[in-house]
Amino acid sequence: MNVVQSLERRECPPPPFVRGVPLLGNLLQFARDPARFFLDSYRKYGPVFRVRVLGNTYTCIAGAEAATFMGTREGKECLRSYEAWKPLMDEFGASKMLSAADGELHKKLRGVMRHGVSKDAIKGKYNFILKITDGAIARDWKTGSLVPVVEAMQYMVVDQLGTILTGSAPREYVKDIRTTILYILNVLVTRQRPKFMMWMPEYKRAKARMFELGRKMIADYRAQEARGVVKAPEDRTLIDDVMDAHKADPDLVPERDLVMLVTGPYVAGLDTVANTTSAIVYTVLKHPEVLRRVQQEVDALFEQGPVNEEEFMKSLPALNGAIMETMRLYPIAVAQIRTATRDFVFAGHQIHEGDMVYLGTSVPHFQGEYFRDPKRFDIDRYGKPREEHTQIGAYSPYGRGPHTCLGKSAAEVLLALTMARLFYKLDLELVPRDYTLKTKTAPTPGPAMSFKVRVRGCRH
Ligand code: HEM
Repeated sequence: MNVVQSLERRECPPPPFVRGVPLLGNLLQFARDPARFFLDSYRKYGPVFRVRVLGNTYTCIAGAEAATFMGTREGKECLRSYEAWKPLMDEFGASKMLSAADGELHKKLRGVMRHGVSKDAIKGKYNFILKITDGAIARDWKTGSLVPVVEAMQYMVVDQLGTILTGSAPREYVKDIRTTILYILNVLVTRQRPKFMMWMPEYKRAKARMFELGRKMIADYRAQEARGVVKAPEDRTLIDDVMDAHKADPDLVPERDLVMLVTGPYVAGLDTVANTTSAIVYTVLKHPEVLRRVQQEVDALFEQGPVNEEEFMKSLPALNGAIMETMRLYPIAVAQIRTATRDFVFAGHQIHEGDMVYLGTSVPHFQGEYFRDPKRFDIDRYGKPREEHTQIGAYSPYGRGPHTCLGKSAAEVLLALTMARLFYKLDLELVPRDYTLKTKTAPTPGPAMSFKVRVRGCRH
């Protein structure tokens, strides 16, 4: 699917504008349901179009064409991430940042972070993560209570991520991490809220606490080092990798970047995992036949005692189908933001150097051309022989191209561990039983904070 017709400037027409209203442009359609907006615009205008939001113009490249383009040589040449993430980098006072880096620098920084946020980081720890999950369930999901799902998941994820990344869970910082992420994603990354919000005392306080957490993580590392503690390779965490890289190459990882690097995975992992797990609670409870299959699977798994890491993912086909299907229907990243590094022609339309480009990679998730009966929650579409997600450009819940989620392999296991344990331990119900999910779009698309379930009792 080569839709880039030329890397040179030619006399091609600009992408068409999506019809909107005066002044606000396409803001309302975009804010209400970004996935729907990209899908409808793609159907009407094709894979490239422009939108106006509050006087700004953005170019959109959407569909399987966008997903494929991001991974090609031309895509890497024509798009960069720097401007999209620079405001966040500046806010942290950092000189560079993984998401904002491109080319060789990006490869080097991925190398520094890879081990600490990948499946390596949780190897040998599945049963420990289950224990942490059990602790969070016992604390926040009491029998008879109505649980605010997204918030409870945020606490659970901080427990899990904290342990994976640093060896301990900073629960006392959860509110601060949540608030900081809310503001920076809303204002600086997705730009859905005005800049003056960054002066709000609530944000300033939370950011100071998040910095305190980062500095504490670094100070703890240095104290251990001073005591001559030598860690076994399997006990090394992201902090060890970042601090080693800082010592080995202070130009690549200077002192001023350390807080951003060690707290960054919370920014990357908290909302994404909490929103996704919350959506899975909804989709599985909404489909009782899926719930039955998932419960059978997780009961059989946990009855055997501690989890065998080699077998774990393979033993949960129904749960993994439910997770993948939820990530198709409720993607947390509807589009990725980039800047055009040069003039190029895409699908017959001229894109100019410096244009801000939204890549609507989730569009095929909702297209019948890729996913049969796309509105249906069908957990069997990922297994053999259907494997609908393997079609070119069809399925991109973790993004595409060089910035594809670095935490993907760890996140897949984390999602499965969390959901397996929750459905094993608890008997949950939607309230009311025929509840239809309300969603939010800011800062990350996902279930509304008002989504609650009732804990009817403990299954085990
Ligand atoms: C449901 C779970 C998750 C989803 C759906 C998800 C999705 C994504 C997406 C779409 C991107 C690409 C953003 C872009 O191209 O601009 C991304 C990047 C990233 N994610 Fe995740 N993520 C998840 C969990 C995690 C976790 C748990 C971690 C780490 C602990 C993590 C670490 C990262 C990092 C470091 C990047 C930046 C990669 C780069 O710029 O090279 N993610 N994620």
